[in-house]
Amino acid sequence: MKISVIGAGHVGLVTGVCFAEKGHEILCVDHDTEKLARLRKGDAPFYEPGMPELLQRHQASKRLQFSGRTEDAVDFGQAIFICVGTPSTERGKADMTYVEKVAQTIAENLREYRLVIEKSTVPIKTGERIRRTISRYVRGDVQFDVASNPEFLREGSAIEDTLKPDRVVVGVDSAKAESLLREIYGGFNCPFVVTSVGSAELIKHASNSFLALKITYANWLSRLCETSGADVDEVVNGMGLDHRIGSHFLRAGIGYGGSCFPKDVDALAHISEELNVPAPMIRLISDTNKDQLQRFYERIEHELWVLQDKTIAIWGLAFKPNTDDLREAPALRLIEKLKAAGAKLRVHDPVAMANTRKRYPDLYYAKDPIDAAAGADALAVCTEWPAYREADLAKVKASLRVPLVFDGRNCLDRKRAQELGLTLFGIGKAPIKPR
Ligand code: UDX
Repeated sequence: MKISVIGAGHVGLVTGVCFAEKGHEILCVDHDTEKLARLRKGDAPFYEPGMPELLQRHQASKRLQFSGRTEDAVDFGQAIFICVGTPSTERGKADMTYVEKVAQTIAENLREYRLVIEKSTVPIKTGERIRRTISRYVRGDVQFDVASNPEFLREGSAIEDTLKPDRVVVGVDSAKAESLLREIYGGFNCPFVVTSVGSAELIKHASNSFLALKITYANWLSRLCETSGADVDEVVNGMGLDHRIGSHFLRAGIGYGGSCFPKDVDALAHISEELNVPAPMIRLISDTNKDQLQRFYERIEHELWVLQDKTIAIWGLAFKPNTDDLREAPALRLIEKLKAAGAKLRVHDPVAMANTRKRYPDLYYAKDPIDAAAGADALAVCTEWPAYREADLAKVKASLRVPLVFDGRNCLDRKRAQELGLTLFGIGKAPIKPR
């Protein structure tokens, strides 16, 4: 099928290349001309494993084309996916400017039936508003449907998640829309869940907030573990083996980040408050998550006593491994706090240093993890990249000025740290101290 995708960000581009991989013909539209120039050369604008290969393969197969004009998207695809940004404004309210603009442009250029599908993460009732906007601005009597098809991809495994999803959720209110979406997803082998448009919209926010709640529960437990002498990994392992609970997303750390969880939790709270359903439990997820990083910072401050002029190494800048995305990354919040306290920072990340340098040109960007540790009064681990898990702790110890490590992701080898006489503070675990 001919499909248009509006917005070549993480969601749009991944959707576009994956549909092309499944045999559809895709036109991907974005207004950023610099990004389009890179894409046409097969160069991905962000780090995502597998993306460059699919970009190049499907530009060669001619199943993937790009344009800077939303009008072209309306002419090209029988189905039009809206994948533009919906940034957060105050207290979680989503900014719908881009979505509305796209809906207007679709309306003004609609000449024959189109299925308009919202895939950006949007508040409940957005489908209704898109439909109203198109009806107001359309010229003449042209038929259209509006559907919701939330995406559940994770950065770093976005292509795998999209090609092999746990489920596909479609919110529709006409048989024609359902049948077109069944055709689009014909090549996918997973449950196909058909709901109303409103339910599909809510499934996305409800899923992300639930996962954020699970992480937050583990993070809160980690505090109880630290004071009671329990070990959070042992506790969540014991919990997760109960199938009703499940072991995923129970890893304690310095809090979740990224482009989705922080925004979606706040958005769910905002929407429900707008609908007169108080959401203290949802608000608490966000507050507890922020506290988790604050507690990590305070632990560092407590151990180092005076932070002014101390040198601190930071391993990991991205909000999680396998991405160069810095949105809401806990490492950046830690950097802000340490800088404000006068510490000097030596930072490392396997792929996110170029993006970090744009924001903080004055930090020392290390050539490798050991170089970051050189001469530092302490090391803080903020992202559990494999390179850090596998780091040679003997070299780390030799490199540090003081063998003091704060492992914000519980990813370092504790047994080895003990043998080497490192002092290691994890999350929700008894500290390791030299005997
Ligand atoms: C998330 C959802 O997983 C995905 O379904 C949705 O479409 C978009 O939001 P993403 O933000 O890419 O995906 O990353 P994810 O792997 O879910 O991790 C989010 C954050 O939670 C990261 O900062 C990660 O470090 C943290 N996390 C995750 C934990 O702290 N503990 C865990 O057990 C799992």
